[in-house]
Amino acid sequence: MCGIVGVLGDHEVAPTLVEALKRLEYRGYDSAGIATVNNGVLDRRRAVGKLVNLSDLLVHEPLPGKSGIGHTRWATHGAPSVNNAHPHRAGAVAVVHNGIVENYRELRAELAELGISFATETDTETVALMTERYMREGLGPVEAAFRTLDKLEGAFALAFLFDGEEDLIVAARKGSPLAIGHGDGEMYVGSDAIALAPLTDRITYLEEGDRAIVTRKGVEISDANGQRANRQMRRIKLDSARVDKGGFKHFMAKEIAEQPTVIAEAIRSYLPTGSDKVQLPGEGVDFASVDRLTMVACGTAYYACLTAKYWFEQLARLPVEVDIASEFRYREPPIPARTLALFVSQSGETADTLAALRYCRDKAERIVSVVNVPESSIARESDLMLPIHAGVEVGVASTKAFTCQLSVLLMLALKAACDRGTLTSDQIADHAAALRGLPSTLNAALDQNDTIRSAAQKLSEARDVLFLGRGLMFPLALEGALKLKEISYIHAEAYASGELKHGPIALIDQQMPVVVMAPRDALFDKTVSNMQEVMARKGKVMLISDSKGLAEARDGVWSTIQMPHVHPSLTPILYAVPAQLLAYHTAVAKGTDVDQPRNLAKSVTVE
Ligand code: F6R
Repeated sequence: MCGIVGVLGDHEVAPTLVEALKRLEYRGYDSAGIATVNNGVLDRRRAVGKLVNLSDLLVHEPLPGKSGIGHTRWATHGAPSVNNAHPHRAGAVAVVHNGIVENYRELRAELAELGISFATETDTETVALMTERYMREGLGPVEAAFRTLDKLEGAFALAFLFDGEEDLIVAARKGSPLAIGHGDGEMYVGSDAIALAPLTDRITYLEEGDRAIVTRKGVEISDANGQRANRQMRRIKLDSARVDKGGFKHFMAKEIAEQPTVIAEAIRSYLPTGSDKVQLPGEGVDFASVDRLTMVACGTAYYACLTAKYWFEQLARLPVEVDIASEFRYREPPIPARTLALFVSQSGETADTLAALRYCRDKAERIVSVVNVPESSIARESDLMLPIHAGVEVGVASTKAFTCQLSVLLMLALKAACDRGTLTSDQIADHAAALRGLPSTLNAALDQNDTIRSAAQKLSEARDVLFLGRGLMFPLALEGALKLKEISYIHAEAYASGELKHGPIALIDQQMPVVVMAPRDALFDKTVSNMQEVMARKGKVMLISDSKGLAEARDGVWSTIQMPHVHPSLTPILYAVPAQLLAYHTAVAKGTDVDQPRNLAKSVTVE
């Protein structure tokens, strides 16, 4: 999940490399580095921590040169340190790598037998050392890199730069995405098109097993069998402007606040004005010919799928299985005929989700993805891609992408209900009207920001927090707990309210805040009973409900947050707002790095 970039420019490339790395920093921010070739001489600079440290270093120790490669790291092998930072160099070769070389121990053993020693703990160093070994044995740079690539197992995107070669980058893709950018007299390499957006909109995506010889004149690509390959060059529509915080203190705060706008856009694009019928792009999906839905994702996107299970089952009477991608991909689950496989991913690059999609490729009736990045690998490998229209999400903790995923999945469930005739036209119209009103209801929820900030102040003193919910609120409780732990580092867990008495109730004492999410719906009384069980054991309850629910159940609770009333199907989308704001304000109160929490990365391209 590191980010890699390469530039063969007609100007000094260090600033361009750093600028491109800024756009890739969402992939990891443990350390960063660049290497250039200047007057034939290969050199590099590396710094531990955020990219700003590398920028500072370059002020004091500039790195001239018109050809270069760069890297922003999320550590897999070896702790974050300058020594373990990329580019890794062995003699005449510098390498940047995203992914994992799984057989690096064998490669190290082979090199060690030749008397070659190691300077780092990384898997990547073996790639540089192996290539330099072949060059010493007489191979040219391209042949040496290719010979090394023949030996690598695992998932990787790699870029090689060579001493004495001002007009050459060798790049390779196996398992991790890599894009080649075409400029005017310049050429680029990047983990994704976003990194290259200010430089070019002409992109060629490498396919699995591809190798590329990049020079300023263009790119020569060979496929996994060593045959010359013609890969299409596409024009990519990407906003090249740097995404900024728009006056907010953090990207996460901005992205939470953007939700009414981006969800309105998502709703408009699937529910055209004047119609209650959900319209899908391209050939769409006919759910009448589907018997089963398998949904696969990771993290927050997985919780979006869990929520959607309730919708598809209740509204469309369609059996649904939901799975965590890292489990699904190795379990070899049978996929019966007439199964629609649905993959949800903000980045569209999550390695496990992509592997799960590939597992379903020849088994499922149809592969559909719900993604935020239409040019991503998951989007490109799907039969049908449904964009969520959230816009670029920078905060590592997903917020607006989650609620946009939910909105699109709800509309998909309504389409399924329509195709399968399980809802009346009045019920469909009710849902459509509620969806159209959702952006303004979300604005009313955001108005509770000050109340939620005060509630978060209390939560910030806790060591552990429990989240409870029933029905549609259960997956949301899971998401609320995930948001809290990932950015505030407070231990948080979530349970279906009905599960409490089967074990977790033993945790309840005066120190334990319990966040209960309970709109006044058909399950409200049941949840309130579970809440009473908590209070009877001196647990501190924070109740999030609407005015009716609070009027009925606020007695004895520790803290309350009031949400506007909304159609029962839409509650997870609305109640995501207080869950996100609670986590956000708790993290701010604790002084953690909200947008780039420790140990995490925005795009998880390793398994
Ligand atoms: C949590 C979060 C992660 C992602 C997960 C999947 O806030 O963002 O749990 O949801 O890593 O990522 P995508 O959606 O890009 O596949």
